[in-house]
Amino acid sequence: MVKNICCIGAGYVGGPTMAVIALKNPNIKVNVVDINAERIAAWNTDELPVYEPGLLEVVKQARGRNLFFDTDIEKGIREADMIFISVNTPTKTYGLGKGRAADLRYVELCARQIAEVATTDKIVVEKSTLPVRTAQAIKTILSETGNKARFQVLSNPEFLAEGTAIKDLLEPDRVLIGGDQTPEGLAAIEELTQVYASWVPRERIIQTRLWSSELSKLTANAFLAQRISSINSISALCEVTDADIDEVAYAIGTDSRIGSKFLKASVGFGGSCFQKDILNLVYLCEFFGLPEVARYWEQVIALNDYQKRRFAQNIIHTLFNTVSGKKIAMLGWAFKKDTNDTRESAAIYVADHLLNDMANIWVYDPKVPAKSMFADLDYLGTRSPEENRKHLTVVTDPYEACRDAHAIAIITEWDEFKTYDWQRIYVNMKKPAFIFDGRNILDHKKLMEIGFKVKAIGKSY
Ligand code: UDX
Ligand code: UDX
Ligand code: ADP
Repeated sequence: MVKNICCIGAGYVGGPTMAVIALKNPNIKVNVVDINAERIAAWNTDELPVYEPGLLEVVKQARGRNLFFDTDIEKGIREADMIFISVNTPTKTYGLGKGRAADLRYVELCARQIAEVATTDKIVVEKSTLPVRTAQAIKTILSETGNKARFQVLSNPEFLAEGTAIKDLLEPDRVLIGGDQTPEGLAAIEELTQVYASWVPRERIIQTRLWSSELSKLTANAFLAQRISSINSISALCEVTDADIDEVAYAIGTDSRIGSKFLKASVGFGGSCFQKDILNLVYLCEFFGLPEVARYWEQVIALNDYQKRRFAQNIIHTLFNTVSGKKIAMLGWAFKKDTNDTRESAAIYVADHLLNDMANIWVYDPKVPAKSMFADLDYLGTRSPEENRKHLTVVTDPYEACRDAHAIAIITEWDEFKTYDWQRIYVNMKKPAFIFDGRNILDHKKLMEIGFKVKAIGKSY
């Protein structure tokens, strides 16, 4: 029986997952460690570093009882009999595989540290989203460093979506655990199964071989992203014909073989997983000499880039081919509602396009701080940090963002946008008052009655 768990990495995945594991297993001590002292300090307050509905309540129940957040990584590793690796795995920004392969240096560092510090046998669980065969790399590092302890490596990919992380963790569709099909491997799989079985019905815990588990994670995200790119591709066709994307999505979604979820046309998908995982898949296919398969999945990303670009270009074209010096209000910066996460958000790319055309952008997002927005733009390196700050203004009042604007762009589907006083916003805008609904969340008919010129995804008006 597992008695002590250590999780390396206190981010969007590690934090909420460990909080729920600790909540449901009061007999297991769960230590979450991170090199980022500021982050750990925040986990020990009521101002958690990750915004997730319901998370604080879960953390409060378990914290100090059997859930601990600490910077002492070595102690965490030494004490644990099971170690989750939940560090970030961004896409490589340099060298071989640049822009596509996952950067595994943080994972590798973790594996080396475990090998260095461990004095007893451990089960090492890869939780970060990783390319297939990473477990093999971890295994090699652990077994070749001369440490006498024995290690079993498991793959236990996380399927939670941000904004619904706690619900997804409490009631998962499935939990996937992959491991070696040896007696020791199967025993390790069983140990981890028991941790989850505290609250997840056994039949929802899927046990597979190691690589199936790793590949399933990439494939699940690739399929989900593919659905969005598929519907977004049809949205472009709707805009030039008299079809309506929401009607089409509803009509096809009622076919039980297709299903209704993940068919919401949008300004483009974002988030830390979809693009990264598809790029990983593409890289993997190329590595194994399967260029046709690589091209197939690559197209999902190409379409997503097109959708973001198309949205920005539509704004420019509609505003009489120039946004130079014009105030454009962007509502929403997060990659989806109910999160403060902005990784790969469509907002970044839409803003970048508009800034290239000399727009003055005013942004309002209910959860994202200005610091993150500027960090996102600066990271692109399109222009200097000073220029980004000169042409993009962040405000905490949506009405201020929209005052005297030539156009409003809805980027994130925050619920509160639906309840704004749109009449008041209209009165205070430049005319014609354009609104570009990148999420199709507003009542377009009502907006048109007020006087707005409405443009939306997959609508011919
Ligand atoms: C995703 C997977 O859903 C999750 O299982 C995995 O563990 C991590 O990656 P996440 O990125 O948090 O989760 O959010 P998700 O709800 O999948 O949305 C991703 C992006 O797609 C968002 O930008 C969202 O706005 C967009 N989206 C989603 C659409 O544009 N249309 C849809 O119909 C659904
Ligand atoms: C299809 C649509 O299902 C139906 O709604 C539409 O009206 C007509 O086209 P049909 O072509 O008769 O129907 O058969 P379908 O069961 O969809 O199979 C089409 C092909 O896909 C077959 O060759 C089938 O073997 C193949 N298939 C189907 C797979 O290879 N894998 C699957 O999982 C499903
Ligand atoms: P994810 O969405 O995968 O959870 P995050 O970036 O939110 O990604 O979280 C990853 C966390 O892992 C960060 O807080 C980072 O500081 C931490 N981390 C990265 N490398 C190490 C390491 N070698 N040891 C400890 N923590 C690490």
